[in-house]
Amino acid sequence: MIIRSLNLETVCGITSKLPENDKPEIAFAGKSNVGKSSLINALMNRKSFARTSATPGKTQTINFYNINDEMYLVDLPGYGYAKVSEKEKMKWGQMIESYLHNSKQLKAVFLLIDIRHEPSANDKMMYDWVVEQGYHPIIIATKLDKLKRSQVDKHVKMVKQGLNLIPGTRVIPFSAETKQGRDEIWELVETEFLEKKEVE
Ligand code: GTP
Ligand code: MG
Repeated sequence: MIIRSLNLETVCGITSKLPENDKPEIAFAGKSNVGKSSLINALMNRKSFARTSATPGKTQTINFYNINDEMYLVDLPGYGYAKVSEKEKMKWGQMIESYLHNSKQLKAVFLLIDIRHEPSANDKMMYDWVVEQGYHPIIIATKLDKLKRSQVDKHVKMVKQGLNLIPGTRVIPFSAETKQGRDEIWELVETEFLEKKEVE
């Protein structure tokens, strides 16, 4: 994807109404700190257009990045962040669920899992729930640069087994440091989730 224009068009907090966009949306879910905002920056070829932080719980709103007036990358708050109150957690959960459940333009959900660790109970719950909503999530195994090359296959297998993925589900190892996996993700988005314009 050639990025010609970028705009953080909509920021939704717990009390805001979700936008009724008329262009395809691609959403990124995953636990706090897994690298959702970093992945979105990598896809946009920007270092810090989406705010990231070493401290979990950075993204607390649903952020819609308009790409080329053609589509949206949707950055979601992370789940499983221990430091917020139960009440707050519930509200975020409801906000994420409401978005995934109600968006008419949502074409694909990417679920991010840290490639170093076994998926958590929350990851599993999220995966199952997204599947229940009728999506076929694509898994991004993040922080690939933290593993030795020889460990990668074993860890991909661990992610597949840990989530009990539907056979055929794509798992794409990705690093925001080296950008490995970025082209594959764009390729997938462009070929499978964006409508092709008729060539005249
Ligand atoms: P929340 O907004 O809190 O839900 O987190 P997030 O999922 O958006 O994570 P974010 O992109 O803010 O990244 C969290 C931390 O992980 C930051 O310190 C990033 O620099 C780091 N990080 C993200 N991706 C990678 C990666 O591929 N490799 C390495 N080494 N670090 C990464
Ligand atoms: Mg974030």
